[in-house]
Amino acid sequence: MKILITGGAGFIGSNFVRYLLNKYPDYEIVNLDKLTYSGNPENLRDAENNPNYRFIRGDICDKKTVDGIVSDGVGTILNFAAESHVDRSILGPESFIKTDIYGTYTLLEATRRHNLKKYIQISTDEVYGSVEEGSFKETDPLNPSSPYAASKASADLLCLSYFTTYKLPVIITRSSNNYGPYQFPEKLIPLFITNALENKSLPLYGDGLNVRDWLYVLDNCQAIDLILHKGRIGEIYNVGADNERTNIEITKAILKILEKSEDLIKRVKDRPGHDRRYSLDSTKIRELGWRPEYNFEKALRKTVDWYRNNESWWRKLKVKAEEFFKKQYGELE
Ligand SMILES: NC(=O)c1ccc[n+]([C@@H]2O[C@H](COP(=O)([O-])OP(=O)(O)OC[C@H]3O[C@@H](n4cnc5c(N)ncnc54)[C@H](O)[C@@H]3O)[C@@H](O)[C@H]2O)c1
Repeated sequence: MKILITGGAGFIGSNFVRYLLNKYPDYEIVNLDKLTYSGNPENLRDAENNPNYRFIRGDICDKKTVDGIVSDGVGTILNFAAESHVDRSILGPESFIKTDIYGTYTLLEATRRHNLKKYIQISTDEVYGSVEEGSFKETDPLNPSSPYAASKASADLLCLSYFTTYKLPVIITRSSNNYGPYQFPEKLIPLFITNALENKSLPLYGDGLNVRDWLYVLDNCQAIDLILHKGRIGEIYNVGADNERTNIEITKAILKILEKSEDLIKRVKDRPGHDRRYSLDSTKIRELGWRPEYNFEKALRKTVDWYRNNESWWRKLKVKAEEFFKKQYGELE
């Protein structure tokens, strides 16, 4: 089986490529990644010598590149490639529209032209918008708040239209917030871990009471694996681990693990359009046989340990993350 993974040099994509190479040693994996600020070839250094793994630097919006790869025996595409940071989408939505929408279109067209067996779109719980009570089902309407969420929702609709119109073998996964190794240190958990390690302030938005449902990245890899092999064509699968926590709870938990003072917490002005709570009803993927394996407290500790032990990985990335943060929020200290 030859699989094209896009965005495999990013956080979830690189974890998934490693997971697949270990679990299915006979699968051939091609990783197409543009290497934007969040794409990092170091994330898959350990795979570079694997004869079943090939990295290609390129843009999913580039039809010629995509066609060239797909026409060489690829049967399935998993599309992880995206602009993925909400704050960046607020400052400049254009690259989100290009990659997340037009890039998805390019991949869908390649799937159609080359009669591929499967196309899996890696989407997000953010497409549903905020929910005060209860949890979103796959059939609930989309109500995205940020340009990022809107670009992902648009891509989902495009995928579904290709299923309806062209009978394209599309499946969509919508997971909640992931955490774990190799996450770019601009997202809440790695940003706060690395800031705390450096004794820098932890910039907490608004009242800190926004709720997210946290999913360990390897649990998500297992869910995507299950969907790849047993998911039903034309379906959407929510993937959440029922680990809802407020941002302030996450912040305090990180500080506690690192034995740092809560004085490091610094309230900053809230993100515009900041969704209050995300919550997924994941009954459907659980019926397919998926269960999260990782306990939240243990996996958070494991994640903290990973950043503590891999300073050389994150230290150079922090410069890029901090440059952006200053542009958006000014100096912290
Ligand atoms: N991180 C989360 O918590 C989360 C939750 C739910 C869904 N998702 C979705 O999962 C996917 C992966 O997210 P992530 O957190 O790993 O993001 P990431 O930003 O770490 O990785 C994105 C990768 O895509 C690549 N890329 C960007 N534009 C590209 C283009 N035009 N062509 C080719 N490659 C391109 C980047 O170089 C990078 O390697 C995204 O589609 C995101 O929407 C993420």
